[in-house]
Amino acid sequence: MKNIPTNVLMEYERVKDTLDQHNHRYYVLDDPSIPDSEYDRQMRQLQDLEQQYPALISDDSPSQRVGGKALDAFTQVRHAVAMLSLENAFSDTELDDFDRRLKDRLNFAALKDLSEIEFACEPKLDGVAVSLLYENGHLIRGATRGDGSVGEDITANVRTINSIPLKLRGDNTPKLLEVRGEIYLPRPGFDALNAKAMAAGEKTFVNPRNAAAGSLRQLDSKVTASRPLEMCAYSVGQFEAEVTPDSHTHMLEALGDWGFKINEHLQAVKGVEACKDYYRAMAERRDTLTYDIDGIVYKVNDLGLQQRLGFVAKAPRWAIARKFPAQEEMTQLLDVEFQVGRTGAITPVARLEPVFVGGVTVRNATLHNGDEIRRLGVCVGDTVIIRRAGDVIPKIAKVVLEKRPVDARAIVFPDRCPVCQSSVQRAEGEAVARCSGGLFCGAQIKEAIKHFASRKAMDIDGLGDKLVELLVDAGAIYSVADLYELTPDKIAGLERMADKSASNLVAAINVSKETTLAKFLYALGIREVGEATAQTLANNFGTIESVTKADAEQLLEVDDIGPVVAKHIVNFFNNPDNLSIIDALRDAGVSWSDIDQNAQPSQPLKGQTWVLTGGLEIMSRAEAKDRLQELGAKVAGSVSAKTSRVVAGPGAGSKLAKAESLDIPVMTEEEFVAFLARGQ
Ligand code: IVH
Repeated sequence: MKNIPTNVLMEYERVKDTLDQHNHRYYVLDDPSIPDSEYDRQMRQLQDLEQQYPALISDDSPSQRVGGKALDAFTQVRHAVAMLSLENAFSDTELDDFDRRLKDRLNFAALKDLSEIEFACEPKLDGVAVSLLYENGHLIRGATRGDGSVGEDITANVRTINSIPLKLRGDNTPKLLEVRGEIYLPRPGFDALNAKAMAAGEKTFVNPRNAAAGSLRQLDSKVTASRPLEMCAYSVGQFEAEVTPDSHTHMLEALGDWGFKINEHLQAVKGVEACKDYYRAMAERRDTLTYDIDGIVYKVNDLGLQQRLGFVAKAPRWAIARKFPAQEEMTQLLDVEFQVGRTGAITPVARLEPVFVGGVTVRNATLHNGDEIRRLGVCVGDTVIIRRAGDVIPKIAKVVLEKRPVDARAIVFPDRCPVCQSSVQRAEGEAVARCSGGLFCGAQIKEAIKHFASRKAMDIDGLGDKLVELLVDAGAIYSVADLYELTPDKIAGLERMADKSASNLVAAINVSKETTLAKFLYALGIREVGEATAQTLANNFGTIESVTKADAEQLLEVDDIGPVVAKHIVNFFNNPDNLSIIDALRDAGVSWSDIDQNAQPSQPLKGQTWVLTGGLEIMSRAEAKDRLQELGAKVAGSVSAKTSRVVAGPGAGSKLAKAESLDIPVMTEEEFVAFLARGQ
């Protein structure tokens, strides 16, 4: 490079290497060693140098991951080694057949000390297959699978994906390497992308796979760069190197050394029975993963054996995919009902022709609100795609417009509450429509009482949803305070209530009187005040009087209480009806020990965030959470660099692995119990 001083060149290479290293730690190993601010500072240094000396800029510069000039069209690429697909197995028997076919073909019985085949087991990632070509260690081309023989050149787009090395790492890199793998969009990125599209009133993606495919099909690589795609390597096409690994797992390990992300659940096992165990273990974990998988891929691990087995038509003989139950199915929308919740929120609920999806039969799906109905453009009678992924609550992902029947009926959002006929109102800027009837509305009374009685609130044993409905419908109770006026006589007169259950219920209601301030505050059902906020309020204010008198300013001084929650709390306690219910409850004997602000133990875990994972056997998860919150800790659902400690019970999976990779202290449940007993 002419006219560039040697010291600048050296400095440039150094900054490039450092950024590359950090990039690898952050995106491939999930283990950053420097803060983002430092990364940004070094990136600016690189960009400054490149601006000063544009001749320096090469394709493998970390600055080039932001995307470049838009293309007019993708060019076609012929794969030197065809990109095959996989045969599917849908049952254990079909897996046994596969194993038998392999053994027959390899004449395995004759090999005395090899009674079982070794298989590499790995998740089948639900994304888009990609081929990445490296010559002399440099990424020179990225291509889609296409029809297996001819794909499209998406080099500019793959360069923007941070977990794809632009240059191979390490010393013994192959002269020619074609890496095959899956590009996918992890679920948090997918949710964020859809939330953004929804807020902008744009079309959303049905699933992460479609979003990944759509992101790769962009002619403008800057759009691709804005999507948090990841790539995981799972095989090799063309390969020229001094040494060739002897097994699939060793090959993937080598790919890991060269800078690729390898799936964390890759495992080599002996025999088909172990393959079945792996399938079951992963099926259980499926919902806890942050990315979608649609099955397990089994590959004969020995590359020599793979070669002997060869291929049939479009698939290798040495591999098979065992599919999980589908997470998306088609069904019909039979009707839409409008439910009224505890806070008066009116939620449209889709009644569906029952369909088996994600391992369960789904009959209902939430449609959230009027905006969602409009966005989907859905009508009663439509054929819809139901998706039930890790998020458990099934939803309508898309309408199949081609199948719309002639008598499809538009969904009309009601302007009167379906329960009490009060007017339905929608606050400005809010998507949710609410019944204005307050506690005049039967639905709101019922939901408020159900919440009050629930386990994490007043924990009234035996007072389930059905019984609350019965009591309200019979006019036996009108508010939560009425519960404490119930007598066995009053209840026993009701339909379906035997004497015994009536006295049991009254006994359970009596037991519930002794509670804690946090549970009581939670039980009141103040909007946006969940368990954790109720605990925070109890810890910070100590008595119900202080909470009811607190103004927005005082509430905002408390960590974790923002302006919206503060407003809901103030509104709740400004309502005289609510205050009289609290008085009635206390008169009826509901009590707790106030938290003495002065004597209150300092909260030793204040400022810490804990994560509970795996099964807890000594105490319930709810109890563990309560104890941690009492000590001032926040309890989070996922592990990040901000996590202080993880309690891992048996069966802990990806969260534990993540904690270990981030060097976050982990304790067993026994250690945790001992820790609590010590007072910390
Ligand atoms: S191996 C010759 N491994 O599944 C072997 N494929 O039907 C080729 N896939 O389009 C594939 N995860 O995109 C393999 N761990 C994995 C995979 C995987 C996902 C996709 C791949 C291909 C399809 C095969």
